[in-house]
Amino acid sequence: MEGITFHRLGQSFEESGGGGPATVLLSKQGNLEIMSHKIGSEFVVWLMPASDPAAMEFFFVYEGGVELALDDGVVALGPGESFTVSGLAREIPVKMLGDTRILYVTNCPAFESVAQFEESLLALLVRINEKDHYTYKHSGSVLKYALCLYDAMESKMETVSRNDMAVAALFHDVGKCFIPVEILQKPEALEPAETRYILRHPLDSGRMLRAEFGEAVAETAMNHHERLDGSGYPRGLTSEDIGLPARIIAVADAFDAMTTFRGYNRVKTFEEAAEELCGLEEIFDGAVAETLRQLVNNGTIKKEEKEETEPDEQTR
Ligand SMILES: [Fe+2]
Ligand SMILES: [Fe+2]
Repeated sequence: MEGITFHRLGQSFEESGGGGPATVLLSKQGNLEIMSHKIGSEFVVWLMPASDPAAMEFFFVYEGGVELALDDGVVALGPGESFTVSGLAREIPVKMLGDTRILYVTNCPAFESVAQFEESLLALLVRINEKDHYTYKHSGSVLKYALCLYDAMESKMETVSRNDMAVAALFHDVGKCFIPVEILQKPEALEPAETRYILRHPLDSGRMLRAEFGEAVAETAMNHHERLDGSGYPRGLTSEDIGLPARIIAVADAFDAMTTFRGYNRVKTFEEAAEELCGLEEIFDGAVAETLRQLVNNGTIKKEEKEETEPDEQTR
């Protein structure tokens, strides 16, 4: 009958909707949208504070499970459980426990942007993870540190929005998908021909992000291995040509490399790594490194409790 849609037992929500591969719009009326999200195992999505104070989001887990890392501990939800988000003060990571399906209801129209964004980003992330699991984990950590630094230094940010910063940080190493896996994970020193692959990954990251996210994001990702004294790559830029967002990612990137076991290195504590970066003013931005040290000292940036310690592949 017109005016009513049923979702019968055994029939997936997706069969009655239409849209991208991961997100399906089931119903829409005015500002109200009801979607179904299908999200892969171990994938982390972020709940973001909404700019509209009247915004409300409702999440109902109907397959798999989710784990929310809140300030006062981790909350896990399974099939049949749900949560509502409204007036969130800061972003919260939500990890999928197995392949997960979520019914998502919001009064802030989001489907168009979510579906488009997801399709391209998911494809990129899947490519990174298949190739090099270290880079996948590293990308999430760099995102976390870069956003903490961004928030602390927001008054100095001119051209790059928080969203742009997040995209550039998460995908700064996406160009590594063109590096053969044997080179990416080779423990010994690389041959010159192999090094050339490494040296071009920031250019590839920039190229891959430019069309979808614009020049500011591309430039930020492309310059994450540039150093203030000109000793970096791929272009050997010097301080005046390296923007603050790229300097932030450079510090976040180095900090994660220093504090993560990569098969051969001595893992530094967060305090040691931040201290060391503060002493490298010729190559890393002093104000960014100092902000990182403060964020470590005041506990804003701290080691995850369940940090994995088994050897990882090498990263460059
Ligand atoms: Fe890199
Ligand atoms: Fe990196």
